[in-house]
Amino acid sequence: MKKLLIATGGGDCPGLNAVIRGICKRAKKTKEWEVFGSMEAFNGLFTDPLRIIKLTSKKTAGIHVRGGTILKTTNKSDPLHYPVKDENGNVTFVDKTKDYVDRIKELGFDAVINIGGDGSQKISKAFFDHGLPIIGVPKTIDNDLSATDMTFGFQTAVQIASDSFDKLVTTAESHHRVMIMEVMGRDAGWIALHTAIAGGAEICLIPEIPYDINKLVKKIESRYFEGRGFVNIVIAEGAKAKEGTIVSREGDEGSRHVRLGGVALQLSQQLKDAGVHPEIRETILGHVQRGGTPTAFDRVLASLFGVKAFEMLLEGDFGKMVAFKNNTFVSVPLEDATKENNVVGKDSFIVNGAKGLGIIFGD
Ligand code: F6P
Repeated sequence: MKKLLIATGGGDCPGLNAVIRGICKRAKKTKEWEVFGSMEAFNGLFTDPLRIIKLTSKKTAGIHVRGGTILKTTNKSDPLHYPVKDENGNVTFVDKTKDYVDRIKELGFDAVINIGGDGSQKISKAFFDHGLPIIGVPKTIDNDLSATDMTFGFQTAVQIASDSFDKLVTTAESHHRVMIMEVMGRDAGWIALHTAIAGGAEICLIPEIPYDINKLVKKIESRYFEGRGFVNIVIAEGAKAKEGTIVSREGDEGSRHVRLGGVALQLSQQLKDAGVHPEIRETILGHVQRGGTPTAFDRVLASLFGVKAFEMLLEGDFGKMVAFKNNTFVSVPLEDATKENNVVGKDSFIVNGAKGLGIIFGD
């Protein structure tokens, strides 16, 4: 029997388990492959005892409906920038790619499927360049990978955000308030934009379009003047005012990324300072957007990503990532997959469409 290793890395995302199950189901049909999972991305390869589990049918039965990942995950200990602490407690980052690839080979794995976002696929590319037969599966609720039209988890996040938005509309209306709802979206405003359209927001603020606070004030005033008496705003965590800065704090130890979150509070203050009189309330959705049951759409996408990834393995199509393009499943070189982010275009159809619905972006 040949041995396949699966890992899930980066932030978790609804649909990860459906990919794992899809790979295992397809592999079982060959009767030639055994599938294993490394716990917490590739960390499981380096612990004593090893944290590698055999993904039997019993282990994966029914997991496609469950959020999170049965393999756990981490967005620290990136092999390309592995955190090492010196005796003074200072952390530096070193490239440990070769150690990881050697370890995987030493443990007898014939191939790897790495499920993760942008950072994880950069790791896949580095492993492939060091001679490891590897295939990537894209994941992120932010939908910001350019090589695929859609990533699983995104639809679920939008559904959660839209359901929350609907609830905030009725309370905004009852109290004549301005409600600000902050959603995830570090560099890309896809969740915010889809939620604004689905929910019928008045204002949508995204990282790609820095906003002018005066334009927001004008919109809010006109809503109250027209007698509508309430306003609902969606803001992505990475949004900022023109000439402003994003709201961030230091990342966890060992992480190279700053933590976002809290821009809703900043916006609330900016609006008050600019003379907005109605009461303002802020809701930060945070990790609720990444939890729980994946939507049916995400389960389908994730399951078929899993099947396609395993079929790429059978064809020896390594150094590639599975992608969903023009309504079909294809493989794209990892190099292209990690080149650029899929961000919202300022003049895209979706932004203009949202404007057509009366949503303003503050530009
Ligand atoms: O990459 C997805 C994402 O949801 C970002 O939008 C967000 O900033 C980040 O994950 C938060 O991740 P964590 O809190 O797990 O580090």
